[in-house]
Amino acid sequence: MKPATLAEARRWGIDQLAATSPSAAIDTDCLLAAATGLDPVQLRAWPETPLEAAAWQRFRHSLQRRQAGEPVAYLLGRRGFMDFDLAITPAVLIPRPETEHLVEAALEQPTDRVLELGTGSGCIAIALARAWPDTRIDAVDRSPEALTVASANADALGLTSIRFLAGDWYTPVATNRYGLIVSNPPYIADHEPEPDRDDARFEPRGALRAGATGLEALDTIIAEAPRHLRPGGRIWLEHGHHQGAAIRERLGAQGFSGIESRCDLAGHERVSGGVLEDPA
Ligand SMILES: C[S@@+](CC[C@H](N)C(=O)[O-])C[C@H]1O[C@@H](n2cnc3c(N)ncnc32)[C@H](O)[C@@H]1O
Repeated sequence: MKPATLAEARRWGIDQLAATSPSAAIDTDCLLAAATGLDPVQLRAWPETPLEAAAWQRFRHSLQRRQAGEPVAYLLGRRGFMDFDLAITPAVLIPRPETEHLVEAALEQPTDRVLELGTGSGCIAIALARAWPDTRIDAVDRSPEALTVASANADALGLTSIRFLAGDWYTPVATNRYGLIVSNPPYIADHEPEPDRDDARFEPRGALRAGATGLEALDTIIAEAPRHLRPGGRIWLEHGHHQGAAIRERLGAQGFSGIESRCDLAGHERVSGGVLEDPA
């Protein structure tokens, strides 16, 4: 039966999601806000507002999809990252809070040319372009569907300094050299269970799984980096919480110095980087 008010709809939604979502109240607020066209603060401020029939249909439909596990970001078609909002479709990874640490590390040293490998929604390239308006950024992904989403996101934010390029890692940029390479590549090993649980079940496999060890994409990116950096160029990479030592070792083997890892809010090593004094 249709709930009469926003408050009743909210209670109903939280009850429905309690068994399947770890964030039932937040999910309900987001979905009810989207269905009614109000924002979550308005929902709480006017709990006795009558719930319209059309809003109820939309809310019930999105709630059923959430109950079946679909991520809220895909249901809303949006996700916040840093200080901006992105359009998100199932063709792209939902940007993670951990990736904001990667952006923060990269932003410490301005440069005029950046290469982002595996851009997905474009979140990293867009964050850098907003902070450094005079920097030219090449953002690569092998998924044409992801590049469509990323370039629409850049357009929506009025950014013209990013070139979106389709291809396998460095292939589309030939012999170009950059002051910074940044990447959040796939880094989950085939035997690891993460992508089969929770929201990740709905995300593109090719954005998450790297291969038998989980280090395959990171290995390629690190091995080729010296040919694409200028003297003093930097690399910053996101990786799995247990991969920090392996990444530091690989960066050292490719001639990087000043190698360091940064932790995420859970205290796990999540981002590593270094400087290349003598490029190949
Ligand atoms: C973990 S997602 C990161 C997306 C986005 N940068 C973010 O941080 O949310 C990895 C991205 O790398 C792309 N990718 C995977 N293998 C690739 C390859 N061989 N060459 C280029 N891009 C690749 C995937 O399509 C996906 O968009």
